[in-house]
Amino acid sequence: MSLEATSDLWWKNAVIYCVDTASYLDTNGDGVGDLDGLTQRIDYLAGLGITCLWLMPIFPSPERDYGYDVADYYGVADKYGTLGDLVELVRTARERGIRVIADLVINHTSIDHPWFQMARSGHPIFRDFYVWADRKPPNAAEGVIFPGKQESIWSYDRAARAWYMHRFYPHQPDLNINNPLVRNEIHKVIGFWLEVGLSGFRIDAVPFLIEQVDPDNPATADPHDYLRDIADFAHRRRGDVMLLAEANEPIGKIEKFFGEHGDEMHMLFSFITNQAMYLAFVRGDATPLADALRSLPPIPPESQWANFVKNHDEQSLDKLSDAEREEVFAAFAPKKGMRLFERGIRRRFPTMVDGDRRRMELAYSLAFSLPGTPVLFYGEEIGLGDNLAMADREAVRLPMQWADQPGAGFTTADARNLPRKLLRDGPFGYRQLNVEEQRHDPGSFLNWMERAIRTRKEWPELGWGEWRVLGTRNPAVLAHLATWDGGRVLAVHNFADVASRLSVRLPDDANGGRWRPIFGPGDGDAPTIEGDRLSGELPPYSYRWYGRRDRV
Ligand code: NOJ
Ligand code: CA
Repeated sequence: MSLEATSDLWWKNAVIYCVDTASYLDTNGDGVGDLDGLTQRIDYLAGLGITCLWLMPIFPSPERDYGYDVADYYGVADKYGTLGDLVELVRTARERGIRVIADLVINHTSIDHPWFQMARSGHPIFRDFYVWADRKPPNAAEGVIFPGKQESIWSYDRAARAWYMHRFYPHQPDLNINNPLVRNEIHKVIGFWLEVGLSGFRIDAVPFLIEQVDPDNPATADPHDYLRDIADFAHRRRGDVMLLAEANEPIGKIEKFFGEHGDEMHMLFSFITNQAMYLAFVRGDATPLADALRSLPPIPPESQWANFVKNHDEQSLDKLSDAEREEVFAAFAPKKGMRLFERGIRRRFPTMVDGDRRRMELAYSLAFSLPGTPVLFYGEEIGLGDNLAMADREAVRLPMQWADQPGAGFTTADARNLPRKLLRDGPFGYRQLNVEEQRHDPGSFLNWMERAIRTRKEWPELGWGEWRVLGTRNPAVLAHLATWDGGRVLAVHNFADVASRLSVRLPDDANGGRWRPIFGPGDGDAPTIEGDRLSGELPPYSYRWYGRRDRV
């Protein structure tokens, strides 16, 4: 393999940026961010160095789950603009070297979708687009996704005089993917957006998409056949398509979503390392993360993990034990109102650590160096906070803070009437924390992030390499090594709030040669590599990356 390969399987070394269009930039003064706003910010994103823009749902929707309840798969909601505006965005992005992907929400539709409307009125074809039962199935209350806000996964529909299945809210009926007509429709949707110019999809709720829930119609085929089917189809339509699946599953199940031969989903979010990282942070001990990394199954060469610090949902801690989750809650979500769905935190990371720059750098340095491809949520590059005054997951989907001016540079609309409230005051308010301010400050988080992205891109070993966790003789310190194509990157991260000594023995294939420091905060003396050993002391919450190439 060689460097050329990095542009082929592009997702192995991408920097993905997830954006909620409604909260990014409002260009027509109606208080809602729009597609034109995104297009205007493409140069900002290109300058930051991101290579792939992930659009959260922009489709017509009654917005009972922030657009994850689609009423029309072929359109753009009026408030965001038109399909034409989307094409302009995709084209402008492509011209700057940025690909665009979008959420594909096909586990369910909105109840407002014409398919469901026809299904409930007994339409001979559309009825079977959804999953029905004549009687209330036993265990209907089990497996709800939104505990506290959702009581059951089956609801009675009076018009249909039957029960329909919904893994999420009752207004999100599950599609019946056993029905070949539904599969055809989904193919058409995928085909449509690929023609519009998207490079792939973030596929929502994939384990639920293929679960077999129809008690009257147990399918015999391997449910993963359907994912292979989707991947085959997408590939036929576009060779470099990338499918990134949301599958928050444990080891043993998760790897199945890549497919045995890498023939299902190209990328999977690594909820496993993400949650272990939070436990490691609150303990000041790298062990939970080191253990999680060691437990990761090997993946096919074309496949990739997607690493993130914080996504657009609650920070789920569902993979931790009850006691571990309580530990994280106590440190990062001490108040009840900061928690959601009994398993997560509805804050962004910087507020969890009170804006501690050292810990922010530590977290994102991990996201950029751990095996996988980094995914940022808009605003993370400036350390955007959250607004707990907003309901549910809206707390983390607050308007982007561009400048210290009324409307935060996000909108010219009257701030009192905005659907998404601005955060004005305090250390996270737009008066203090905004893009313009950080542009002027060479030491800002924004400038740090730009450097992190640049370094990550210059060292594709991190995305492509075989990797190992190395012993450090100190549980507070994580060391990992990525090796690829004659290049190596070694990274060390100190989770403790005190300086930590470390001593790492480099494996035989990695010692010798000219190692050089490639990334770090420059806070004090860095540990150095001599012979087969990296040793020295890392300041509290500090980190260093070292690189070495045998080729020029
Ligand atoms: C996962 C999405 O990330 C979340 O925001 C949404 O509510 C559910 N899937 C249902 O679509
Ligand atoms: Ca607007």
